[in-house]
Amino acid sequence: MQISQDIKYIGVNDRINPLFEGQYSVPKGMSYNSYVITDEKIAVMDTVDGGFTAEWLENLKAALEGRKPDYLVVHHMEPDHSANIAVFMERYPEAVIVSSQKAFGMMKNFFGTDYDDRRIVVVENDTLSLGKHTLTFVTAPMVHWPEVIMSYDSLDKVLFSADAFGKFGALDSEEEWENEARRYYFGIVGKFGMPVSGVLKKAAKLDISTICPLHGPVLSENIPHYLELYTKWAAYEPETDGVFIAYTSVYGNTKKAALSLEEKLAAKGCPVISLDLARCDRAEALAMAFKYKKLVCASTTYNGGVFPFMRDFITDLADHGYKSRQVYLIENGSWAPTAANAMKKLFEGCNDVSISENIVKINSAVNAETIAQTEALAEEIAAQ
Ligand code: FEO
Repeated sequence: MQISQDIKYIGVNDRINPLFEGQYSVPKGMSYNSYVITDEKIAVMDTVDGGFTAEWLENLKAALEGRKPDYLVVHHMEPDHSANIAVFMERYPEAVIVSSQKAFGMMKNFFGTDYDDRRIVVVENDTLSLGKHTLTFVTAPMVHWPEVIMSYDSLDKVLFSADAFGKFGALDSEEEWENEARRYYFGIVGKFGMPVSGVLKKAAKLDISTICPLHGPVLSENIPHYLELYTKWAAYEPETDGVFIAYTSVYGNTKKAALSLEEKLAAKGCPVISLDLARCDRAEALAMAFKYKKLVCASTTYNGGVFPFMRDFITDLADHGYKSRQVYLIENGSWAPTAANAMKKLFEGCNDVSISENIVKINSAVNAETIAQTEALAEEIAAQ
């Protein structure tokens, strides 16, 4: 795949591993992207996952057209991109690695060497001339690891953005970018909103025509849209004024109340969606909580606390920096309801989360009183 006259895509599609990073479901696979810039000097941008060494080396060989690479630019040391560094360095003994100081420390741990005689250590704003193309390096710590750098090619106006602007799904999967990019962002990078915001401020000063991420499609149209979405995500701002109802239900009673609330909100014209936490994708629930402005958590009481799927969900929110949101609770309990208090306690791990005092209480099954409470909650949510 040709990105520009001198830049080629040499990455691979992973249709084998059902889980990315050992935990994220990727039903449409995953891509590990790598690129080659051919100029007076040749730079290879990152390697790929260790399961795809032979395919990547073949892609690289074809792109080189008989020439030898001068540089391997390592933007990120997570093994989905760095696994083939040692293989590359053995195959191309004249090549030099260009990366951050921290990345070379990680190479020592991964490969037993920090290539001290075959390396160029770069810091913020350092440049590397390839001939017509000049790469300028942008440090991007914690997007998604501390050693991360990005690079900008001023000739073709291309930003090599490391994990940022990536997406789940192999390159040949047809799906909307936003949904899988959101699920990817909040699952993987969501906790690091502040560093992402810092890098976005630096990116705003660049004239970018194309973004080449390490996962997902190359972005070459409507760049401001992607930058705007990332700015929102990094700032933990909701994308929409709507409501996400997350529920867990053992015998269907809590579900009935949650769906009744959804119906009432929809009737009032509120954008609303609901997910059963025991049956939906965990990363999808996390992404929906960040997408919507308001969150309703409906859970049964369990073991003197809250149902495990709800406990894990709220813990996940806290772990990923969930903040500045309005939350509403629905609790169920047949003999000693404790879910609401347990959920409130879990939300103490989040900053600036306001929990409504108007809590819907179900005593085993939904009845006229519960329906009235649900109606009152729907009115409060719609009014806020
Ligand atoms: Fe795609 Fe953080 O590695």
